[in-house]
Amino acid sequence: MSHRSGRHFLQIPGPTNVPDRVLRAIDRATVDHRGPEFGPMTLEILEGLRAVFQTKQPVIIFPASGTGAWEAALVNTLSPGDRVLMCETGHFASLWQKMAGKLGLAVELIPTDWRRGADPAAVESKLKEDGARSIKAVCVVHNETSTGVTSRVAAVRKAIDAAGHPALYMVDTISSLASIDYRHDEWGVDVTVAGSQKGLMLPPGLSFNAVSEKARKASQSAKLPRSYWSWDEMLANNKTGYFPYTPATNLLYGLHEALKMLQEEGLPNVFARHARHAEATRRAVRAWGLEILCSVPEEYSNTLTTVIMPAGHDADRLRKTILDAYDMSLGTGLGKLAGKVFRIGHLGDFNDLALAGTLAGVEMGLALAGVPHKKGGVLAAFEHLTESARAPSRKVA
Ligand SMILES: Cc1ncc(COP(=O)(O)O)c(C=O)c1O
Repeated sequence: MSHRSGRHFLQIPGPTNVPDRVLRAIDRATVDHRGPEFGPMTLEILEGLRAVFQTKQPVIIFPASGTGAWEAALVNTLSPGDRVLMCETGHFASLWQKMAGKLGLAVELIPTDWRRGADPAAVESKLKEDGARSIKAVCVVHNETSTGVTSRVAAVRKAIDAAGHPALYMVDTISSLASIDYRHDEWGVDVTVAGSQKGLMLPPGLSFNAVSEKARKASQSAKLPRSYWSWDEMLANNKTGYFPYTPATNLLYGLHEALKMLQEEGLPNVFARHARHAEATRRAVRAWGLEILCSVPEEYSNTLTTVIMPAGHDADRLRKTILDAYDMSLGTGLGKLAGKVFRIGHLGDFNDLALAGTLAGVEMGLALAGVPHKKGGVLAAFEHLTESARAPSRKVA
């Protein structure tokens, strides 16, 4: 491999580009995680995290990838054989479902065509059928990273309430937190699962559970075995800013800095920025004459766009062409979408010119790989970026 000049474009939908401020924050000597400096920093982090989850309730940090936080959500609240209702919106929802099965839970699945989000009406009718109240949890992936579809979390909450059902509500926000508006308290979510490597602009390695009072109560009688993932000891230690086992010290320095950056920009501005870049990307895709996988406009994801390849053209061949020619990584098709789609990540530490470069790389790559398309996608995106930069609505308080 010879040296490639210029910066690699990491436009997969996570892990995302880690900003220099965060890299510099991580690049410090590791200190004693039981020493006097550490507790106060953790307490600031926990407070900053609550603002990002839009909750007043505890947020727990695990030194783990997002998959760990999925497991923590299930094992802390449920017992062997419990029924859980899961909405199979894509590859990640299927993986969470497989995990639940392996843990000895009885999964009830609401399938979709992977082009739309969780259906609140279907959730309501399944819960209404459950007269014995044996379903103990409803699990939804807020932003399905394999498809670019965002489920309506508040509408599913309403559906659970309309059925008058006491099930816990668990939501995976791994590719939406700190990018797409998400309200743990207001939307009545019991366990929110998140990860560090997307909207939080950190490397992979931290994951989170935001937990409601109801979830903590459920954890007192939940019988699934747990030790590393146990919330109890975490919550007890976190009160003074410490952890029951060694935390990921340097990633926490990074998280401290990332939370400051989000606070400086302001969450509403962060959400508006992602919405604007997502709209510009969709305009580019349409101008190319290609199809967006998400079939419900109200459920378009603001963190990634999944593009369907024209019949007879392999998405991974296009991705390889773009990587080789322009040093840009795009997301591959996952599960049953392998080879059929590619995913453009537009989340995290990202701006107009980074999007311009990303879309230029895709448009040039389509031409180079001989994929049938129309020119002008980049221009369509530019038009949206300039028009919306002028619009007063851009100035979100
Ligand atoms: C929505 C969603 N859920 C879960 C996961 C799994 O997280 P991890 O790979 O960090 O374990 C991912 C990973 O990309 C994801 O996007």
